[in-house]
Amino acid sequence: MNLTGKNVVYLGGFGGIGQKVCAQLLERQIKALAIFDLTLNEQVLAAWQTQYPNADIFYQKVDITQKPEIEAAYKAAAERLEHFDLVVNGMGLMNDNFVDLTIQINLLGLIHSSFIALEYMDKSKNGRGGVVVNISSVAGIEPTSLMAVYSAAKHGVTAFTRGLGDSRYFAKTGVAFITICPGFTDTPLLFDMMNKMTFKPHTTVTKHTHKVQSAEICASNLIKVIEQGKNGGVWLLELGEMKELDMPVMWRPTLQDQA
Ligand SMILES: NC(=O)c1ccc[n+]([C@@H]2O[C@H](COP(=O)([O-])OP(=O)(O)OC[C@H]3O[C@@H](n4cnc5c(N)ncnc54)[C@H](O)[C@@H]3O)[C@@H](O)[C@H]2O)c1
Repeated sequence: MNLTGKNVVYLGGFGGIGQKVCAQLLERQIKALAIFDLTLNEQVLAAWQTQYPNADIFYQKVDITQKPEIEAAYKAAAERLEHFDLVVNGMGLMNDNFVDLTIQINLLGLIHSSFIALEYMDKSKNGRGGVVVNISSVAGIEPTSLMAVYSAAKHGVTAFTRGLGDSRYFAKTGVAFITICPGFTDTPLLFDMMNKMTFKPHTTVTKHTHKVQSAEICASNLIKVIEQGKNGGVWLLELGEMKELDMPVMWRPTLQDQA
C-alpha cells in the first residue's frame, strides 16, 4: 500500500510502538489519522497537529473492552473521514494477573474492532477495500510459559487474522489482513515484568535480561510491511529484522468421498 493520502485508524496510537508508527505514517504524508485509545495524550496529539498541519489528526476515546465504544468511535471517524484505507489494531496489555482483561483487550476487542472495520471497508458493502493490520507477538507464534494467558490471547490474534486473511474473503471484500509479531520491544508494556508473569517467581525476566529492539526500529519495519505486505502474511519483527513467516501446516481437513 502506498501510504500517501491515506486515511488511517490506529488503535493504541499513544502506546510505545503506536506513537512511533503514527509519527512515521505522518512522515509518509497520510491524509488523516484517527487515534482510538483509552486515554488521550494531549501533548503528543498537539505536537503532531503542529508538525503535520496538512493531516487531519484526531482522537476518539475507546475502551476496547466495550464493544459499543468501539462502534461509536468507528461511526464518528467514518462521519469525519468517509472511508478508511488502513486500520491498525495495536492496543495491548501484558499482565497475566488479569486473565479476563488480557483476553478482552488483546483478543476479544481486536476481533470486534476487525469486524466493525470490515463493515466500513468491505467492497461488497460499498466500502473501498484496504488493509487491516493486527499486532500479535512472538508469543502469538510460540507459547511462552512466562506469560501463558497473554500467549493464548496472542495465538488467538494470529489465528483470527490468518483466518480472515483467506484469499476467498479478500476476493470479496478487498480488505487484506496482515499479522505482525514483534519480539521484545522497549515500551511501557515491558515495565515490571517480574510481577506480571503467570507464576512467580519463574525466572528473573527484565528488559535487561533479554535483548530488546527499539520501538522506533519496530515501527519502521511495521511500516515496510504495510507498504509491501500481502493479504494473509504473518511477519516476525525481531531485533531490528523483519521476516515473513512460512507458517507450518500441521493439519488439513480430509474431504468426504465424492461417490
Ligand atoms: N513491547 C513489546 O515487547 C511487544 C512485543 C510483542 C507484541 N507487542 C504488542 O504490540 C502492541 C503495542 O504494544 P506496546 O509495546 O506499544 O505497549 P504499550 O503498553 O506502550 O501500548 C499499549 C497501548 O494499548 C492501549 N490500551 C491498553 N488497554 C486499552 C483499552 N482497554 N482500550 C483501548 N486501548 C488500550 C494503551 O493505552 C496503549 O496505547 C500490543 O498489541 C502488544 O501486545 C508488544
